[in-house]
Amino acid sequence: GSANADQASSGDFVSKLVNQKKRIVIFYGSQTGTAEEYATKLAKEAKARFGTSSLVCDPEEYEFEKLDQLPEDCVAFFVMATYGEGEPTDNAVGLMEFISDDSVNFSNGDRLENLNYVVFGLGNRTYEHYNEVARKLDARLTALGAKRIGERGEGDDDKSMEEDYLAWKDGMFETLASTLNFEEGGGGDVADFKVTELESHPEEKVYKGELSARALLGTKGIHDAKNPYCAVVTQARELFVEGTADRTCVHMEFDIEGSGISYQHGDHLAVWAHNPEKEVDRMLAVLGLLEKRHNVIDVESLDPTLAKVPFPSPTTYEAVFRHYLDITAHAGRQTLSKFAKYAPSEAARLELERIGSDKAYFQKEVADRCLKVAEVLQLVAGDDLQGDVAASKVWNIPFDRVISDIPRVGPRFYSISSSPKLYPKSVHITAVVLRYTPKVTAHQPFVHGLATNFISSIKMAKNQENATGPNDPRYNAPRYELSGPRGAYTRDGHFRTPIHIRRSNFRLPTSPKIPVIMVGPGTGVAPFRSFVQERTASADKAREKNGSEALKDWGNIWLFYGCRKSNEDFLYKDEWPDYASKLDDKFKMEVSLSREKFKPDGSKIYVQDLIWERRKELAEDILERKAYIYICGEAKGMAHDVEDTFIRVLDEARGAGKGKEEIKVLKERGRMLLDVWS
Ligand code: 2AM
Repeated sequence: GSANADQASSGDFVSKLVNQKKRIVIFYGSQTGTAEEYATKLAKEAKARFGTSSLVCDPEEYEFEKLDQLPEDCVAFFVMATYGEGEPTDNAVGLMEFISDDSVNFSNGDRLENLNYVVFGLGNRTYEHYNEVARKLDARLTALGAKRIGERGEGDDDKSMEEDYLAWKDGMFETLASTLNFEEGGGGDVADFKVTELESHPEEKVYKGELSARALLGTKGIHDAKNPYCAVVTQARELFVEGTADRTCVHMEFDIEGSGISYQHGDHLAVWAHNPEKEVDRMLAVLGLLEKRHNVIDVESLDPTLAKVPFPSPTTYEAVFRHYLDITAHAGRQTLSKFAKYAPSEAARLELERIGSDKAYFQKEVADRCLKVAEVLQLVAGDDLQGDVAASKVWNIPFDRVISDIPRVGPRFYSISSSPKLYPKSVHITAVVLRYTPKVTAHQPFVHGLATNFISSIKMAKNQENATGPNDPRYNAPRYELSGPRGAYTRDGHFRTPIHIRRSNFRLPTSPKIPVIMVGPGTGVAPFRSFVQERTASADKAREKNGSEALKDWGNIWLFYGCRKSNEDFLYKDEWPDYASKLDDKFKMEVSLSREKFKPDGSKIYVQDLIWERRKELAEDILERKAYIYICGEAKGMAHDVEDTFIRVLDEARGAGKGKEEIKVLKERGRMLLDVWS
């Protein structure tokens, strides 16, 4: 491109490192902020151990041609998350493309003999491509002649990212010290931020949940991960038949009119949820900030290359805990160990030190009970977790430490369930609301996640808004002991929450002549509601042009859907007949009802059984008409079972042993696409 001098120099991390007399540069491939958080952890630990500051970098903002120019006493860390089907995070796509190129050219040739590097991967074992990005990068750097320091670290998000990290990092730092002569004896744990309480500040310039100046001031511009849009939630309604199931599933609509946001079928919506009021109050109480909750604070980074302020400022104590720091997450062992020295009593300090240092004890006392940070602090100080929070003992944790040690709220991603052709002014999601049971019951039988909690609260509040009065059952909708609606409102009285779109490659073939096979039991049907809407819009158009024969040469539109019972959790049950009527006989929807209709031997029927029944037609569509296959939903059981079924279907059609190869080819050609989660 036509990069001007400014951009060229700001993208040059080597000069930056050398000019700032630093020896460690840390890149993070981060989607929701976790990898970024680990990058900062590594930087802080390097500083505490060796007294060396690091340059923490978003790879998206840097050029990698000069990777071969990093001085030999320096080291590059790569903290890389793997996303979805073995993909890099959005901000690491450029780095991975550059480095993977066979004809890669650095400023001095095509080798990296001088480069020392460290890799830590963040992945999830539920997925087939566990930590693929970190592994690929590691293999590639080694192949180019670079020297890895220590072992490659790999964290498993499905189990215990933090423990994997803790088990890895000491060995790595020791190897780093011995191979590159980093001298032990750093400054210890020093402050990252300066927090100042402001006497007065114009109300409209205080951040209360907004994530960017653009959102606060309402200025127009592009909305993306760095600039989410504060959208009004216009609908939040229950999709399951009320009172029939122990689960709930919420249909939500966000207004994007006038925001400039556009989306496509198959994209994801990132939703930045709010913490429940009860937890906001608990945290404020434990820190002795209940009275000061509305005080305006300004937060400044003491070393912006090491740690960025994780939220916009000025803001208020209350807003920090409602919107910006993830106080709903299960407490981490490291965070707790850092807070021990601020305990209100000797006994509390000793107990928290033990929790922080003894892995098994932490597991038993904290992890198995799914306790949040503030709950642990209350518990070790002898407070009643269910009592009046105002009676909590106060921990004098400096606020800058709180900001450093509690992770920030990251977005949660949902498959979009509407088509922009039908709904250009709104985005819909279909979110199942789960509650989970801790191994050991602390003070409540169920625990909710952050987003789950938020979505339920909005649904409840919307119910009350729509109720005709206190006698309307909607008025007293179940509360799941969550937050009241207070936290869901922002200053203009609307329910608002920051959102942005994440693009995906989960797309329909452009031509409707190509058959599509969609498999999405449960909430896995979400993107397929959008896909089917897309096709109905095209059908309407085609009919306007070519009349009743318009869909004659269209391919089949298969939808394999599954739920428990037809009158309980059948998602969008009323909508499918409308879509079907517009798609003539091309739309073939097959539904399994796993707790209603059984096999003769009494066992359950699942979507894969319906696929097997229609195997002849499906194999023809795949092999002769180049159908696209889409699987969406739960990764562990369903997606595997469905994929295996397609292998068997193709084995039968093409000969034993051929199915696996066919599926592999389909995946390579982008004709078998997955959108799965754990
Ligand atoms: P079940 O809960 O009765 O076992 C949506 O959750 C639907 O997916 C339910 O009908 C559920 O059935 C079903 N389901 C559970 N595990 C599955 C699997 N491995 N493959 C396909 N469907 C599954």
